[in-house]
Amino acid sequence: MGKAEDDSNKTVAVIGGTGSALAYIKNISVSWSEQNVTGLVPGGTCIRTAKPNVIKDSEVDEGFLPWMVRAREYGIRSAVGCPIPSVDGGHSYGCLLVDSKVPNAFGDSEVQLFESLAQEIGFGLRPIERQHKLDDQIHEKQLTQERLDDALRATIEAMAKTMEWRDPYTAGHQKKVASIATAIAKKMGMSDETVQALYMAAMVHDIGKVAVPSDILTKPTRLTDLEIKLVQGHVESGYQILKDVPFPWPIADIVRQHHERLDGSGYPFGLKGDEISLAARILAVADTIEAMATHRPYPPAKGLVAAMSQVHAEAGISLDAKVVDAAFALMDGDNALQSTIDIA
Ligand SMILES: [Fe+2]
Repeated sequence: MGKAEDDSNKTVAVIGGTGSALAYIKNISVSWSEQNVTGLVPGGTCIRTAKPNVIKDSEVDEGFLPWMVRAREYGIRSAVGCPIPSVDGGHSYGCLLVDSKVPNAFGDSEVQLFESLAQEIGFGLRPIERQHKLDDQIHEKQLTQERLDDALRATIEAMAKTMEWRDPYTAGHQKKVASIATAIAKKMGMSDETVQALYMAAMVHDIGKVAVPSDILTKPTRLTDLEIKLVQGHVESGYQILKDVPFPWPIADIVRQHHERLDGSGYPFGLKGDEISLAARILAVADTIEAMATHRPYPPAKGLVAAMSQVHAEAGISLDAKVVDAAFALMDGDNALQSTIDIA
């Protein structure tokens, strides 16, 4: 049995065979193109014409001349090729080729029999081919989705990188917070999808600081009340920057809520408890840990242990206790939390 390929040579690919002359079709080169000499044999001809094609005697039939020697070698004297009907409305799907060691083996009734058998094969192939096409389409969609995900991730990382030019401290901070937040989310058993959303939000959570004068961001001493208000404005600026980007997750809302606190003491809205999304509550804990544990202009860094004891004191008050527990669990054993901060 052969399949009519759509390549430039119009190859007939052997897709199966049986019988004593099986070796005859091994490595055989057949085309269904009229321009090709191998396209004049029953296999190629029946595909092209969509009608059965018979070789009565391979020793005398001109159409079989290119194969006369080979046919002799395998004891073939006559053959019939019957087209397997198209499965998609195009050319024949392929051919059913039957050989015989005697000349004139295929009369009208034999041809009719093999013709209807080829048609049955065609009907049987239709759902299989349709499934193949469907599988290809699904695969193509998956590839497109992966490319989109990669592009989205790269865009977020490019946004985060632009911060590095203006404010290297904030850029490094966002990266570390993203690592801590995703580690906590994984520890809490959250889905890959949520972990990815959290990573994206964390990588740009302070992007609104581009709207804050840089001498305030790098000021080595305590900020005035007005300066604090200006710095706090970064959550709203961040939200405004991100809100119109059609992320598949609520990145802008997570960013807007990352300074909200469980007891309503946060900003900008003083949201409480479940009014704050879980992603924003995780981001709040990761942000607090990183800000206190590592180097910053003001106040000076406390180190991870001191930072965690402060976080512990806030668990269940301003910070989500379950999220804090997950952060502590990351310190068990080889202290993955410390290495996350060190590596990021
Ligand atoms: Fe922030």
